[in-house]
Amino acid sequence: MTTFDIATRTNKLYINGEWQESQSGETIKITSPYLHEVIGEVQAITREEVDKAITFAHEAQKDWAKASIQERATYLYKWAEELVRMQDEIADIIMKEVGKSKKDATNEVLRTADFIRYTIEEAQHMQGESMRGDSFPGGSKSKIAIVDRVPLGVVLAISPFNYPVNLSAAKIAPALMAGNAVIFKPATQGALSGTKMIEALDKAGLPKGLVNLVTGKGSVIGDYIVEHKGINMISFTGGTNTGSHLAKKAAMIPLVLELGGKDPGIVREDADLNLAAKQIISGAFSYSGQRCTAIKRVLVHDNVADKLIGLLKEEIERLPVGSPENGSTVVPLISNKSADFVEELITDAIDKGAKLVTGNIREQNLIYPTLLDHVTGDMKVAWEEPFGPVLPIIRVSSDEEAINLTNESEYGLQASIFTKDINKAFSIASKIEVGSVQINGRTERGPDHFPFIGVKGSGMGVQGIRKSIESMTREKVTILNLSE
Ligand code: NAP
Ligand code: G3P
Repeated sequence: MTTFDIATRTNKLYINGEWQESQSGETIKITSPYLHEVIGEVQAITREEVDKAITFAHEAQKDWAKASIQERATYLYKWAEELVRMQDEIADIIMKEVGKSKKDATNEVLRTADFIRYTIEEAQHMQGESMRGDSFPGGSKSKIAIVDRVPLGVVLAISPFNYPVNLSAAKIAPALMAGNAVIFKPATQGALSGTKMIEALDKAGLPKGLVNLVTGKGSVIGDYIVEHKGINMISFTGGTNTGSHLAKKAAMIPLVLELGGKDPGIVREDADLNLAAKQIISGAFSYSGQRCTAIKRVLVHDNVADKLIGLLKEEIERLPVGSPENGSTVVPLISNKSADFVEELITDAIDKGAKLVTGNIREQNLIYPTLLDHVTGDMKVAWEEPFGPVLPIIRVSSDEEAINLTNESEYGLQASIFTKDINKAFSIASKIEVGSVQINGRTERGPDHFPFIGVKGSGMGVQGIRKSIESMTREKVTILNLSE
């Protein structure tokens, strides 16, 4: 059955294995960020339908929890196969819906299939442990603890627009392998791609009720789902404001949050500047900087700043700008609102004395890659996450200054350090408050089995395949009392 109907372009909810229209009778129109036309519609779910989806999920989870790891693996392998088979169709929808180049969109789908396969294999190799009672003073040899992991129940997966397939499957696959059922709420701008991904899961024959697709605006239905008594765990990726709002609502429900960032590229005086420039450009401007892990500011030593800026300017002016259909690196932003925000940051910085090196051209929601020099702490762009193609340069005169500026940020996702002195790199790495430090490379999430951590305003908990599975289970201890 097809859900992306070209004639009506209306997508359906997927509840208990059935594609269905919402009783609300309302749909939400999805407009392409670069075609500027409606490319589809998704259902605006009602509260009653959310209740039903959660009830079905609990029903389905009971048998799924009993299913062997091998049985779970069979369905997920089929899902990965379907995604590979449907790669072109799905990539086309990602491109149209979130304005990502076809090549990047295809990579996203293939990366997702790899992610699912690795998740299966990781789950197959995860073991519990046993503990002897007599290891503790006064403990008895007759006591043996068996520590196993059990599923949490129903996981709520909420994903953002920028990786509508990958970051959704990165929640659904570990949840399923761990024995949970899922309520999947995609970003509204991303729901067409998310629906297509669920269509692949449906084709894989996953037992009904295990994954339920609920679409609707987060601002309308989000709080209701998050506060629902039937939800046992929440895995959320999105903005810091949404994440902290959600954390308050979730109260005592286990929660993993992957939020925003303001990743610095720290460039020391001794850095290989050609390498640093290449990595910074790709880190800052790919997909117009709409990545949580984008390099969002450069903290460069004053003695090499002019040279680095010259190299960055040259590279930036060569970046392909325009439609994702032409494979451009810098593409229209997800919405006009996002473009307004980025423009405001640029204007604020220039008004306060920043020097425009290149860029600051806007055509509708397309912002040309923009480089700002002499950015200072009183400018918003020094601290705020633009989620757009603007890179502020902050000149520093010491490692300490770079460390302080990094730590003054409300965010703590990743940081890059460019230097030829490995001891200095480790020394700086040990002093900065971020989840991961990249030495001589751009900030990025992958490979996806590495732990992925945001601290401070960048998140809570750890992702990365093994860690994600762990976060969707809890330990359970059974103690054997042997008779002598
Ligand atoms: P967003 O606006 O925060 O939305 C994220 C998700 O939350 C969407 O599904 C949204 O639904 C939903 N939502 C909104 N209000 C809600 C509520 N009250 N209750 C429950 N759900 C609600 O983020 P975005 O613009 O899609 O994504 C960009 C942000 O995500 C950036 O800040 C970026 O750094 C961050 N991000 C972080 C990571 C990471 O791994 N750390 C990865 C990717 C992105 P609607 O779309 O219907 O509003
Ligand atoms: O913003 C999404 C995050 O998952 C980034 O992934 O691979 O672009 O660093 P990546």
